[in-house]
Amino acid sequence: MTSPKKLFIKTYGCQMNVYDSERMAEAMGGQGYVETKTPEDADMILLNTCHIREKAAEKVYSELGRFKHLKVENPDLKIGVAGCVAQAEGQEIMRRQPLVDLVVGPQSYHRLPELEAKARTGKKALDTDFPEEDKFERLKSRPKAQRGPTAFLTVQEGCDKFCAFCVVPYTRGAEVSRPVQRVVDEAKDLVDRGVREVTLLGQNVNAYHGEGPDGTDWSLARLIWELNKIDGLKRIRFTTSHPNDMNDDLIAAHSECEKLMPYLHLPVQSGSDRILKRMNRSHTAESYLRLIEKIRAARPDILMSGDFIVGFPEETEADFQATLDLVEAVRYGYAYSFKYSTRPGTPAAERAQVDAAEADDRLQRLQAMITRHQREIQEDMVGRTVNVLFEKPGRLPGQMVGKSEYLHAVHVDDCDAQKGDLRAVRIQASASNSLSGRLVG
Ligand code: 5AD
Ligand code: SF4
Repeated sequence: MTSPKKLFIKTYGCQMNVYDSERMAEAMGGQGYVETKTPEDADMILLNTCHIREKAAEKVYSELGRFKHLKVENPDLKIGVAGCVAQAEGQEIMRRQPLVDLVVGPQSYHRLPELEAKARTGKKALDTDFPEEDKFERLKSRPKAQRGPTAFLTVQEGCDKFCAFCVVPYTRGAEVSRPVQRVVDEAKDLVDRGVREVTLLGQNVNAYHGEGPDGTDWSLARLIWELNKIDGLKRIRFTTSHPNDMNDDLIAAHSECEKLMPYLHLPVQSGSDRILKRMNRSHTAESYLRLIEKIRAARPDILMSGDFIVGFPEETEADFQATLDLVEAVRYGYAYSFKYSTRPGTPAAERAQVDAAEADDRLQRLQAMITRHQREIQEDMVGRTVNVLFEKPGRLPGQMVGKSEYLHAVHVDDCDAQKGDLRAVRIQASASNSLSGRLVG
């Protein structure tokens, strides 16, 4: 018997890439590959890349350079680039880095086995099409490996919003939703394999409109209610949402659907209407704040999370102050803030850039405010009882770590809970990035 070939996958960027990498590993499992954690003993290296900001894209080329010696030591090693850099740069990647054998865009993963076979014959293999067929159906997993308590599940891909700074509509293509039954089947399969919490993924997940069993388009809220019926599934989350698609049925689900967790990632990007307009966001700071009021009326304890860009072209100090005001008003439990990064091919790339030092300074001020809120919200958890889904042992003997409904990491010492258990925990202390407490009862 020949020993299995080894596949090393490195994943960059968002949660959807994490999901895609799992599916690619499963697809290559069908070709006799097993995953390895080290590139040194791999027969194939796959970088699943991110193109959202310049630094993310540049990382790919420096990483590829580091693999050069491996190819000298093992001429049979095949190196592939997948993900959004693959989609955006295509053939250019092989020109810039000739040791790359294979380039596959995010919509063509199901063709990975064929591309790998082609690369094995010594030819360069490339596929960055947006094919009609459902890649997820072609990527059905086998063998059914046991899973940890939490999993991502892609339900929607692509984006039609065309924010002026963003490459996603170009790299991931137009919005597409998977049919309800396929999502439900996949969720049930995950539960059979040990999963207790699913996070539904989509670049614009709340714009989900997959075909239901009755032939009509179902909203995300309706899909969530369907998943809510699955025995053994204890928690449902979803990310990332756009304010304009936050419909009433989804807001109501946050108050009525018991498995839907009180956490919402709802990026606003800026608090200045002038900048929001230039970003092509088609909402205002005011409409966003009103929306949050409505969501908090439905679910008062919901923990809000968001994304921000500072230093967008033409952003003035007054615009930036409006962002700080909005953040002060919302008080995010988590928020991700980025310095604007010029992306070739996007409308904003043509515009006057903000001074880099000024943008750095704004980023620091924004992050200081966000960190303060985050810490205060975490400290407010002390003395409260939360539900924790335990995921893994902690670093100390007898310790277990899990996540609260608000997505805070929680450590419990001398813990008799098992992986996958959902238990009440009384919070006793808040550290910089996690909480700790004791099991109740
Ligand atoms: N520059 C900086 N940040 C960006 N994002 C998207 N495009 C850019 C860009 N060109 C941020 C947005 C988005 C998150 C995923 O990444 O805040 O919500
Ligand atoms: Fe990019 Fe999100 Fe805007 Fe779509 S909605 S273009 S994914 S930032």
